[in-house]
This record gives sequence, structure tokens and C-alpha cells, in this order.
Amino acid sequence: MFPSRIYIERRASLKKFMGKGIILLPGNPETSMNYKANYYPFRQDSTFLYYFGLDIPDLAAIIDAESGDEIIYGNDASIEDIIWMGEAEILSIRSERSGVHQIRPFRQLEQDVGKARSLGRKLHYLPPYREQRRLQLARYGGMKYEEVDRNASAQLIRAIVSQRSVKDHAELQEMEKTMSDVTCKAYYQAVQVIKPGNHEYNVAGALEGTVLQHNCRMAYPVICTIHGEILHNNSYGHLLQSGQLLLIDAGAESEMHYATDITRTYPVGGKFTRIQKDVYNIVLNAQVEAIAAIRPEISYRDIHFKAARTIAEGLKDIGLLKGNTDDVVQLGAHALFFPHGLGHMIGLDVHDMEDLGEDYVGYDREFKRSEQFGTAYLRMAKRLLEGNVVTVEPGIYFIDALIDKWREEKRFNDFINYEALEKFRGFGGIRIEDNVAVTREGHHVIGKPIPKAPDELENMLGG
Ligand code: GLY
Ligand code: MN
Ligand code: MN
Repeated sequence: MFPSRIYIERRASLKKFMGKGIILLPGNPETSMNYKANYYPFRQDSTFLYYFGLDIPDLAAIIDAESGDEIIYGNDASIEDIIWMGEAEILSIRSERSGVHQIRPFRQLEQDVGKARSLGRKLHYLPPYREQRRLQLARYGGMKYEEVDRNASAQLIRAIVSQRSVKDHAELQEMEKTMSDVTCKAYYQAVQVIKPGNHEYNVAGALEGTVLQHNCRMAYPVICTIHGEILHNNSYGHLLQSGQLLLIDAGAESEMHYATDITRTYPVGGKFTRIQKDVYNIVLNAQVEAIAAIRPEISYRDIHFKAARTIAEGLKDIGLLKGNTDDVVQLGAHALFFPHGLGHMIGLDVHDMEDLGEDYVGYDREFKRSEQFGTAYLRMAKRLLEGNVVTVEPGIYFIDALIDKWREEKRFNDFINYEALEKFRGFGGIRIEDNVAVTREGHHVIGKPIPKAPDELENMLGG
């Protein structure tokens, strides 16, 4: 945990921002995989972690924006808990570490919320992302299940997004340390087993094992695939063969649950083919130039389009696109190859605060989400602020089904050279991703560099 003053200050800012009403912040319970005692690894709610730091299941908190009261609800271990799970410090001592002195038994939460409602107090809560919580909120709030999401507090969402979007020094240090000491090492270990004859799971296993050896967990399921064109591919059964591209998208989560999110694409067998290297260099240029442009006040949408233009130019150079680059990008023809956004905020969640609503996190009055294929997936568009941390992750993919569909529809025939694309069937995908903090002067790439220049990759793989 951070020192208690950090949590005290965060809650003080939240109360000030809200001014009125009571704020209900439930933590997460354990979740069963199949039967009750067989849980998924416990993951505390990120907003609960942000304001209280307590990494313990079955807690909830109320913050009264008017009286200033802060109460944690939870139970001390019963004798059964102690038999199965061991002794734990009593909750009142643990809560002191987040600077909270009022503790009540969990069963009193419902009563206290009911009392506040009967007094006509406004109850602020966040949109739930688990059914259990949706049901809990329906009961506490006296609402129908269907009403829970739409009655979530927009004011509370805005307050929390504005706080959590700006990372302080301690948070940045946590991400920096995890990237350098864990994620970076995991990539070096993974590279050792990228060999023809091994399988994707050998590489995924080396990554995950290294992360666990540092007492960390993955921030999201590892993507480790020779089918990099499948954006969220979580199966690892393929044999690695010389000449393939292996895309790895993985990141450790720190002990305090700050995420890292890195992607690299490696040539199996240790040597890029000429055309693989050409495509790789287009992605790398787009990524490096996008990072170089990051600074406070620039909009992330501008940076996204800068990367899209670099990709379009590069694809023109190798004969896959044609025509005016501005038109290609404005009309969205590049999205055949780059169908996602350049990146997203990252912090306590890998897609930070996505449970609160992507548009609250990445858009504002100035920026409205596009409806165009590709750009519509841009999670972050608004102007950057010092202390934001974003991912920068351009990619080029050859998705056969999408190419066939667009070709049949004669979509963008003036811009896309479908003939030349035939040679790219089975090429796969290339993405390169780093995490970048916005600083007063510009930007800082988080952590020790993880090699990404093509000759560095070839040397590491012994090609
Ligand atoms: N790892 C998921 C992403 O890059 O967005
Ligand atoms: Mn990623
Ligand atoms: Mn990412």
C-alpha cells in the first residue's frame, strides 16, 4: 500500500468534487470458478484500491460528501475462515493503513444505505461490471435490476475519471518498477524459447512463469500467437515454424495492481523476410513518431491520425495502398490494415477505468466518438494532460476475411490494391506497444527499453 496520507488526500479531493450525497464504493468478493471454495484469483475493484488500498475481499465503503464520514464495512475472520485461510489482522488495524477509523460489520451496510435513502440523501455509485454487484446495488438502492446501470452517478464517474487519469509520482514509480523489474524480464525469458519446434504455449508459459516468480500476476490474459491478425487471441496451441511472425502482447500487474501492457512481434527462426521487415518498419516508424509527438495539450486523436498517416504512407510505398494519403486516412481505407485505435489510458486497469465507460475516459465535450470503421474503436481521443499514461500500439494486420469482404464490396477500389494483397494471405499481424507517461516537457516511455528495432530482435533470437 501507499502511505495512508495518499488515500486520505484522494478521498478528500473526491468529497470536495462531489460536495453532496453519499458515495457507495463496494469492493469485490471472491468469485467461484465452479464450486464455492474454488475461486478465480482474487482481484480487488480498482476504484476501491484507489481510494482505500485494501486488497481484501468482501469489503465496501461509504464516503459521506457532506459530513465527511468514511466508513469501511467488513467482517473479521470467523473460526472457519481461520481454519481454511489462516489468521488475518483485524480489519480495524488494516483500515488504519488507509486512514479510515470507522469500521462496521458488513450486514450493517444495507441498513445504513436504506437509512440515508429514507432521509432523501442522494446515493452515488458506479456502473457495475459483475452481476453480483448489480444485484447488490438493486437491493440497496431499492431499484429494479434493469435500472441499476442507468442510475449510476455520472457526477461520480466524472470525478473519479478526473482523479484516476492523472497519475502521481508514486503511481508512476510503481508502473516504472513493474515494467523494468518484471515485464521487461519476462520478455527476455520469453525470447529464449521462441524457437522453431516449440509451441506458442512454451513462450506464454515462460512469460507468465517469470511474472509469477516476481510475485506479480498478468494484467490481462497473455496474447502469444502466430496469428497476430486476430486481435485478442488467447489460445497457444500452434507449433512455431521458421518464417512465421510471433506476436506477444503481455504485461505484468504490480503487487499494488498497476498494469503494464507491451507488445512485440518476433520473427520465428531469428530472421525477418524482406517483406516482413518492410511491414515491421512501417509499424515501428508509426509507433516511434507517435511517441515523439506526445506532450500535454495535444489530442490523442491527432496522434492516432499521425500514426494512421505513417501507416498509409508506408503501405503506399510497398504498393498496397494508392492515392492521396490524406484522403485514404480521412475516408478510412487504412483501417483495412489498422482497424483499431492507437491506444488507451493505463493505470490500475490495463484499459484504465473502462468499467466506468470508455467515453467518459477518452472523450469529452470537444471530442465525439467517430462512427467510421476503425476510428470508432479509438478508446482515447481527448487532449493529454501531464500525468496521463497511455499505450501507443499501432499495428498492421492482414485479416483474410476482412480483405475478401471489402474486395467483394469493391470498397475503396481507388485506394486499395487488392491484386497485390493476394501475396499477403497468411502474413499474420504486427503490433508494437509501449506505455508512455505525459510529462510537463513531453513524454517518458515507462520502464527499461524492451528491444524493438528489427536488428536487435534478430540478434536476440540468434538469427
Ligand atoms: N492488451 C490489450 C491491449 O493492448 O489493449
Ligand atoms: Mn496490449
Ligand atoms: Mn494496450
